[in-house]
Amino acid sequence: MTVEDEVVRIGADFFQDPHRLYADLRRTGPVRPVVLPRGVRGWLVTRYADAKAVLSDPRVSKDYVRAGALLEINREPGSPRPEFGQDLQAHMLNMDPPDHTRLRKLVNKAFTVRGVSHLRPRVERITSDLLDALDGLDEVDLIPALAFPVPMTVICELLGVPESDREAFHGWTSTLLSTASSATEITEAGVAAGGYVMELIESKRSTPGEDLLTALVEARSDGDRLSENELLSMAFLLLLAGHETTVNLIANGVLSLLQSPSQAAALRANPALLPRAVEELLRFESPVNTATMRYTTEPVVVAGVEIPADEFVVVALSSANRDDTTFPNPDVLDIERDLNTHLAFGHGIHYCVGAPLARMEGEVAIGALLARFPDLALTSTPLTWRESTIVRSLHTLPVRLR
Ligand code: HEM
Repeated sequence: MTVEDEVVRIGADFFQDPHRLYADLRRTGPVRPVVLPRGVRGWLVTRYADAKAVLSDPRVSKDYVRAGALLEINREPGSPRPEFGQDLQAHMLNMDPPDHTRLRKLVNKAFTVRGVSHLRPRVERITSDLLDALDGLDEVDLIPALAFPVPMTVICELLGVPESDREAFHGWTSTLLSTASSATEITEAGVAAGGYVMELIESKRSTPGEDLLTALVEARSDGDRLSENELLSMAFLLLLAGHETTVNLIANGVLSLLQSPSQAAALRANPALLPRAVEELLRFESPVNTATMRYTTEPVVVAGVEIPADEFVVVALSSANRDDTTFPNPDVLDIERDLNTHLAFGHGIHYCVGAPLARMEGEVAIGALLARFPDLALTSTPLTWRESTIVRSLHTLPVRLR
């Protein structure tokens, strides 16, 4: 990453340690022009109060049709424009009210605290089966062993996605989220994921199940609540957001605890701290690095800087979560931190609909892992992070179990 002429350029080294750049920007220029890895230009917002203000500002839009047109203007000359093939963009995270409100209502109930509480025993079972499979092993990569399969199994069971298709789907979403993927790879992954979700919807039409996807297919046929394209996009969004984020809560959370052994010990000694610890882990190494892109519909002043109309705004959630005006000693992990009002799940109307599910999965997986392996430790293998501006995600998490 370089900071030249006030313009921040996000390069490959940023992903290994975004916190250094963020700390600098919060101090020296909390609203700065940015060029993202594929040449998209926008404004990077790094302080807590500004992040919150942007995320709840109705002048800052998520409408994907207009955003697509703006992508043509707000790009460095010569940077390639990936084509996604089937239209997977018509989902709630890419819309403003009233469409956003209509779409969110369709799934809201399934993900409330009450809605997900009955899933806890199943999440506990999935977790303990995965931990049983580690019996006898000394070293393991915790991502394929635990952090990935817990949320992936849960969201697939909720939606009614066959087990055999899960790895393929994850392959496509990780290509889509990686800034290291070429335009051709992105196009191919988008077409494959879209084709897959279409087939899945057809299979629910011919053989309805008890799952959320069948419920959405039924909502589609019931009046004008959901168009075919919105149905496809909704299924894609839920599958992607349901696993590509929580995997990072579990993996980044375990990493942070193992790097801070006194905190891991305090949590083992008092598992009642788990809910609070999960909030601190969400703040400390936030699973989602930046919120998805938004754009200004008119000039908007943020921290004294005027962002002109029709320009992209990138809100750095993981930076806001380390702003010392809101979180004293932000670079210290403190699982007993009071009043943890982090922005890891976003803020405003797009606040994560899956937050209750993610919190519960995080508590169950991290709690059970610590209890099962009292001597759990990192190996000396250097850790590397995936190249994505959206997710904060490790490639591997090698640990010694005993
Ligand atoms: C929205 C984070 C888990 C589904 C969001 C947003 C964030 C976020 C930051 C807002 C993005 C923006 O405003 O640009 C997380 C984190 C998770 C997690 C950190 C795990 C620790 C989940 C799960 C689901 C889910 C398990 C399952 C369905 C969604 C959906 C939205 C969303 C559908 C869009 C909501 C809307 O537009 O109204 N999430 N998420 N997320 N999340 Fe999550």
